[in-house]
Amino acid sequence: MSQAAPAAAALPETAPPLLSVENIEVVYNDVILVLRGLSLTVPKGAIVALLGANGAGKSTTLKAISGLLRTEDGAVTRGGITYDGQPIHHLDPGAIVRRGIFQVMEGRRIVADMTCLENLRLGAHTRRDREIGDDIDRVYGYFPRLRERTGLAGYLSGGEQQMLAIGRALMARPKLILMDEPSMGLSPLLVKEVFGIIRQLNAELGLTILLVEQNARMALSCASYGYIMENGKVVLDGTAEALAANEDVKEFYLGGAGEQRRSFKNLKSFKRRKRWL
Ligand SMILES: Nc1ncnc2c1ncn2[C@@H]1O[C@H](COP(=O)(O)OP(=O)(O)OP(=O)(O)O)[C@@H](O)[C@H]1O
Ligand SMILES: [Mg+2]
Repeated sequence: MSQAAPAAAALPETAPPLLSVENIEVVYNDVILVLRGLSLTVPKGAIVALLGANGAGKSTTLKAISGLLRTEDGAVTRGGITYDGQPIHHLDPGAIVRRGIFQVMEGRRIVADMTCLENLRLGAHTRRDREIGDDIDRVYGYFPRLRERTGLAGYLSGGEQQMLAIGRALMARPKLILMDEPSMGLSPLLVKEVFGIIRQLNAELGLTILLVEQNARMALSCASYGYIMENGKVVLDGTAEALAANEDVKEFYLGGAGEQRRSFKNLKSFKRRKRWL
């Protein structure tokens, strides 16, 4: 008896996202509502930018994903966060790191009274394998100047501290890095260098990166997709090229706004956000 040829395996049109934040609400101290139904997705292997003015809720979004929100008396009170097909919003920060998500905090947060090497070893504290020495060499390969700095990390320059913070994240062998304003406080030359390394890590290690930035121009130049937040919500999203070409984005984030920055929402040409799928 002849059998019909099996149907070709149905391939999804797009790969499932590595990270998917669905309509989350975040409250601090049981009363302060900061995120009001925020959704975003990060495809595997992508660099996705999350932009927005001060206080929009960008760092809160990253802390909700990494679980660090709990250390600040914050909680996800609605919605969910899915990573690699599994819900993670109920997990503690240690368990989330072990799943492969690492947050590089705003302001770098390296341990000032430890050396570079000790800081890097600290990044690997969740690991039990014997390849930690090789990974330290790999980090020094990306950031050669860290190898020469043998004193305490507190005496490193701002740029070197940022590099150490990224290097420490790499030591956990993450699949997804959440970066909070890596350009903060750096000279234009160092910003270029740090972003160059971010691109390299994405291309060479296949690292997926969710990048929070005030420097929209830089962030959109290395991301493939971007979200713009205001007041705890996404107000606009699109491909990095589309956002960089968008008149409102240009006016607000790419240096056209001058002194009178109104709310992004109040712009006449503001278009209701369309879901990206
Ligand atoms: N631990 C906390 N407890 C109470 N409120 C907080 C806490 N952390 C942040 N907030 C509030 O949540 C809002 C969003 O803060 P968040 O740090 O997420 O903004 P942001 O977009 O990262 O801003 P910035 O660009 O200045 O870093 C702010 O109004 C802030 O005051
Ligand atoms: Mg912040």
